[in-house]
Amino acid sequence: MKLLHIDSSILAGFSTSRILTKAIAAQWADQHPGTEVEYLDLAARQPAHFDQAAMSYRANKAEADLTDAERASKAETDALLQQFLRADVVVVGAPMYNFTIPTQLKAWIDRIAQPGHTFRYSAAGPEGLAKGKVVIVASTRGGAYSTSDMGQAMEHQESYLKTVFGFLGVTDVRIVRAEGLGMGDAARTAALSAAANDTQAAVAKVA
Ligand SMILES: Cc1cc2nc3c(=O)[nH]c(=O)nc-3n(C[C@H](O)[C@H](O)[C@H](O)COP(=O)(O)O)c2cc1C
Repeated sequence: MKLLHIDSSILAGFSTSRILTKAIAAQWADQHPGTEVEYLDLAARQPAHFDQAAMSYRANKAEADLTDAERASKAETDALLQQFLRADVVVVGAPMYNFTIPTQLKAWIDRIAQPGHTFRYSAAGPEGLAKGKVVIVASTRGGAYSTSDMGQAMEHQESYLKTVFGFLGVTDVRIVRAEGLGMGDAARTAALSAAANDTQAAVAKVA
């Protein structure tokens, strides 16, 4: 079994989501002997924004017709896409920044969301092609959003990730949540304890 461990926090040694993803990956590997872990640090190695050169990936241009920028972009897309496709389990560190995910994580999603590879459209509508994977999201946020209608309406982090992974065919998205991290020591302690419980549940759940 292959596990892809992804971090996207820009807070380096002060990051909470990095602590959570490390614990999730370690517990998963403990409970599933033989797990091979690949690591991707999106803050250390940011994918380029999905731009005009990146769109050539969808144009099926012959290799010889690609510009240097298009060739480099295609290689980046291919590498990230294949890495995602070969994973059975993906652990994603996803802090909330400005009500949504970090730009580095969005750039990665833009690379792996590729028609013909991870989704396709037919007369019946969209179909996700990355089926059979488990995604575990380590969600961290300074405020609390899960406990009120207003909070749930304001957050575009967990809800976005569930939508986009679902669109790509991943129906099993598990959330490990530490929220209220900026609301004082007691709230932070409670958040980390809740996340530890979520981690146990997420790792123990049978697909
Ligand atoms: C640039 C930036 C933007 C943030 N925006 C929000 C936000 O919109 N809502 C919120 O509740 N917390 C926000 N926070 C707080 C983070 O969600 C919190 O610090 C969390 O622990 C980040 O996870 P990390 O420690 O793994 O980076 C923000 C933090 C940063 C650095």
